[in-house]
Parts: sequence; C-alpha cells; structure tokens
Amino acid sequence: MKYSIIGTGNVGYTLASLFARSDIEVGITNTRGPNSIAPLIGNLGEKVVAVTIEDALEAEIIFFAVQFLNFKDVGKLRPDWSDKIVIDVTNSAFLPPEVQERELQGRLSSEINAERVPGAKLVKAFNQLPMKELVAPVADGGRRVVFVSSDHSDASATIVSLATDLGFAPIAVGKIAEGGRLIQARNALVFQNLVKFGD
Ligand SMILES: NC(=O)c1ccc[n+]([C@@H]2O[C@H](COP(=O)([O-])OP(=O)(O)OC[C@H]3O[C@@H](n4cnc5c(N)ncnc54)[C@H](OP(=O)(O)O)[C@@H]3O)[C@@H](O)[C@H]2O)c1
Repeated sequence: MKYSIIGTGNVGYTLASLFARSDIEVGITNTRGPNSIAPLIGNLGEKVVAVTIEDALEAEIIFFAVQFLNFKDVGKLRPDWSDKIVIDVTNSAFLPPEVQERELQGRLSSEINAERVPGAKLVKAFNQLPMKELVAPVADGGRRVVFVSSDHSDASATIVSLATDLGFAPIAVGKIAEGGRLIQARNALVFQNLVKFGD
C-alpha cells in the first residue's frame, strides 16, 4: 500500500474521502482498530481500506491525521522512519497558550514533529483550512489551493503531485523555516481559501 492515513477524525475521514473521489487506494487506521473504522468509511467505496496500525506504518507516504499532542506517540511506533514521507497536518495553535509554550518553546511545530519521525521526510500540508472549506465545491474549472512545505524538495514534489491527483492546485512554499512558518496556524497563509483557474 502506497498511502495511509493515521487518524479517523475530521481530517482523517476528509482525506480518505478525497482519495475515494480520486479513485486512489489508501489505508486508514486509528487507535481502536479496523472494526471501529468500517462503519465510518462505509460510504467511501472500496479504495478506502480499514487497516491495522502495523499495516498503516508500512505505507510509503503516511498522513499523521492526529492531534499535535499525539504526533509523538505515533512517531514512537517506529524507531526508524527512513524511506517514509510523513505528512504533518497538525495545528498546535489552538492549544491553550501555556501548553503551546511548554510544547513548542518558541519553535515551529513541524520542526519539532520532524524530530519525532527520525529518518522520515516530513511535509507540512493540508493544514491551512478547516476541512469543510477544504472540500467545499469550487466553480467550474477551478481548483482549491493547498500549500506544501518541506525541507526535502523531492518529498515536497511528491506531495505536490499527489495533491494535484487529489484535485487541488498545490503551491510549494519552500522549507519549513520559511514557507512552513507561513502555513503554521495562525500565520499569514492559514485560512487563505484560494481557488486557481487554468494551469
Ligand atoms: N478539523 C479540521 O478541520 C482541521 C483542519 C486542519 C488541520 N487540523 C489539524 O489536524 C489534526 C487532526 O485533527 P482532527 O480534527 O482530525 O482530530 P481528531 O478528530 O481528534 O482525530 C484524531 C484521530 O487521531 C487518532 N489517533 C490519536 N493518537 C493515535 C495513535 N497513537 N495511533 C493511531 N491513531 C491515533 C484518533 O484515534 P481514535 O479515533 O481511535 O481516538 C483519531 O481518530 C489536528 O492537529 C488539527 O489541529 C484540523
């Protein structure tokens, strides 16, 4: 399996629906196992497959659709994440200020998350909009813009390609310290709901 999603909440389910819409196979998991997932994804068709966490961890490209505070728990599930692309959709900015201060200590959330998946190429993406806005219909010929940031240009290009296949108009905004900073909630590119027309 090439793609997996860890998390069946708002983000995990919405991402799964995008894979279903584009006819791309994806595995999806949570803390409670496949039996808990089947009823959630019943309307998404056969491309979205409920899997165990172990199977989800074998995918090449893994979405961590979990809360920022749970990212480190998932990171601990493998000692070595080499050859994996991990997509960080988390937003830490909605945690209480004292929790943010304790957890981030002035650093960017994706810099911290990258250290929690040693060896992986972390890509920050799909975090800039509430899910209902991400999937809201757009006018004919338009594609919604998503921002993609990574310190690894090859991984960024891979996720730009995937986002295109999922029906978006991705914009690569550079490294985490630069573009990644702009798409960290609540910075300048967050909540920007843009639609691109043409190529
Ligand atoms: N909601 C939005 O519109 C939105 C938009 C952009 C970004 N975000 C960000 O995306 C992240 C996820 O948001 P959400 O609303 O989807 O969260 P959520 O509803 O709380 O769902 C989190 C999911 O993560 C799973 N999970 C937690 N720890 C896990 C572990 N160790 N192993 C496997 N699965 C685990 C949970 O499993 P169980 O179901 O078994 O508990 C749950 O399915 C957050 O950081 C949020 O800030 C959210």
